[in-house]
Amino acid sequence: MNWTYWTRGIANGAAGLLLGALTLTAAGQGAPPATASHANAQDWWKNAVLYEIYPRSFQDSNGDGVGDLKGISQRMDYLKDLGVDAIWLTPVYPSPQADFGYDISDYENIDPKYGTLADFDQLIAAANKRHIRVIMDMVMNHTSDEHKWFQQSRASRENPYRDWYMWRDGKGETATDPGQPPNNWQSAFGHSAWQWDEKTRQYYYHKFYVRQPDLNWDNPKVHEAFKEIVRFWLKRGVAGFRFDAITTLFEDPKLADEGAVKDKDGKPLMNAFGEPVLDNSKTDNLPGVHPVMQEMRGVFDEFGSGGFPGTRLLIGETYVPNIVELAKQYGPPGKPEFHLPMDTQLAFINKLDVAAFRGKLVDVETQIGAHTPLLLFDNHDNPRMDARYGDGVHDTEIERALAAVLFASRGASLFYYGDEIGMKTTPPARKEDVKDPVGVTGWPKEKGRDGERTPMQWDVRPNAGFTDQFSKPWLPVPADARAANVEVEKMNPNSLFAWYQRLIRLKKTNPALALGDETMLDTTNSRVLSWKRTAAGSPSVVVSVNFTAEPQTVNLGAAGKLRTLLKSPGGADASALDQIVLAPFGVFIGEVQ
Ligand code: GLC
Repeated sequence: MNWTYWTRGIANGAAGLLLGALTLTAAGQGAPPATASHANAQDWWKNAVLYEIYPRSFQDSNGDGVGDLKGISQRMDYLKDLGVDAIWLTPVYPSPQADFGYDISDYENIDPKYGTLADFDQLIAAANKRHIRVIMDMVMNHTSDEHKWFQQSRASRENPYRDWYMWRDGKGETATDPGQPPNNWQSAFGHSAWQWDEKTRQYYYHKFYVRQPDLNWDNPKVHEAFKEIVRFWLKRGVAGFRFDAITTLFEDPKLADEGAVKDKDGKPLMNAFGEPVLDNSKTDNLPGVHPVMQEMRGVFDEFGSGGFPGTRLLIGETYVPNIVELAKQYGPPGKPEFHLPMDTQLAFINKLDVAAFRGKLVDVETQIGAHTPLLLFDNHDNPRMDARYGDGVHDTEIERALAAVLFASRGASLFYYGDEIGMKTTPPARKEDVKDPVGVTGWPKEKGRDGERTPMQWDVRPNAGFTDQFSKPWLPVPADARAANVEVEKMNPNSLFAWYQRLIRLKKTNPALALGDETMLDTTNSRVLSWKRTAAGSPSVVVSVNFTAEPQTVNLGAAGKLRTLLKSPGGADASALDQIVLAPFGVFIGEVQ
């Protein structure tokens, strides 16, 4: 199985980084602001536009160089103007920040770096006032080593919390020697997933960083604790959660070794940490996770679906190897699990391959039943789109093309802060500048995730308006920020920002694009991806996206006149289905008359 927890560690056909005048028709121009018009409280999420915020990097309000909750609240009008339905905040709970919040030491509070519970309540109020929902991140695979549960657990073998984590004996241990770890399992952050703890003379398991010990999900007390935590926040008005690293909740109880992944010549594939890539068969996507998700979904459903925020949404970070496994994440009939497990299959194709895109889009139309796909291309764990899809010449056009796939396909759409202004991956140049533990361990082959976490580029001021000019941002502001920022892009009707805004409005207001069925068109074309959206009682919409650097002309059928809804800058209007002319990486969206 050529797959690891994140895609970044494998050769997926992508660039080296992996290892390492908007033209509008009358219809588009004066489109009403994005509303939830096509989704009632119960179904709001089915064509939701979701925006991921990495709070450290969005907006600093107090000059400490780290983004915070007040900063996000200050930018709420921007988010409203962009047209998003919900924001997902990566973890803001108290944390030693060893993995920048994914190592939680208290699940029912806010880290002082980001603010207070009162600031959080104000953030929800500011968002809700603008009809924006707030989604939190929930990390249930592991806690911080500073969490009181783990402090107890490591105190003695008899401690009541001992069994909340995964403690095991090593191999060949003697009174003076810890011996070897129980098996060959590796941390996603490099090296053995087992850490010797001298005090009680056993190893604990950590799928991620050594400071993120895995919880034991065979212990019912762990289930109860998390159900209470989830209720705590849902009661506060949170509209849902993104469950982190959820496929890694369970491990093989026999602790069998994992197999090594081979390259095409039969040699073991090596990762950036200098170790063989393992197949994750004993530590990821084990079936035990499904009953737990059914139990958790029950907690969400306790809150009903009326009023605002309506249905409480369960989103999954679901890196699974294929559509069959993705389909399972929705739960079997009558036993729902995730509303929206992320479609990482589409997200990380990592090359502009029309057939591959078409195949993945057909998969979610044909193999997940009546469920809703959650499409995305970007997040805080992978190099940004420029590094995975760009060609260095047409990056903006390519990002426009991907945005068209993201927003004009059926489903909910998720994007990452800065995508809308084409922020670029900016990895650290020197080891001493690296902040992410993945980069600290993997340097120089694996530079870590700092490159996709740089401060939001708001305006032309020093530090791009992320923090004041006297402060030092926690990660450097990229050099291109003076040219590529919100202020500049908002003034330009041809900007990527304007393109995102138009696409989002179309998705929310055009009935066929909002919730219509989807059919692929011109399915043998290897240069242009085309599809049709149809909804009863309203005109169908066709979308064509050129995946090449040359102009292309497509014929989507003889009968049918077209009216342009949206086209790339420099693109031509099309009035008939049999003659759609596309600029390099151009997009055309038209209504069939
Ligand atoms: C998820 C998060 C990632 C984090 C890891 C461990 O994959 O997205 O940022 O490091 O889980 O919590």
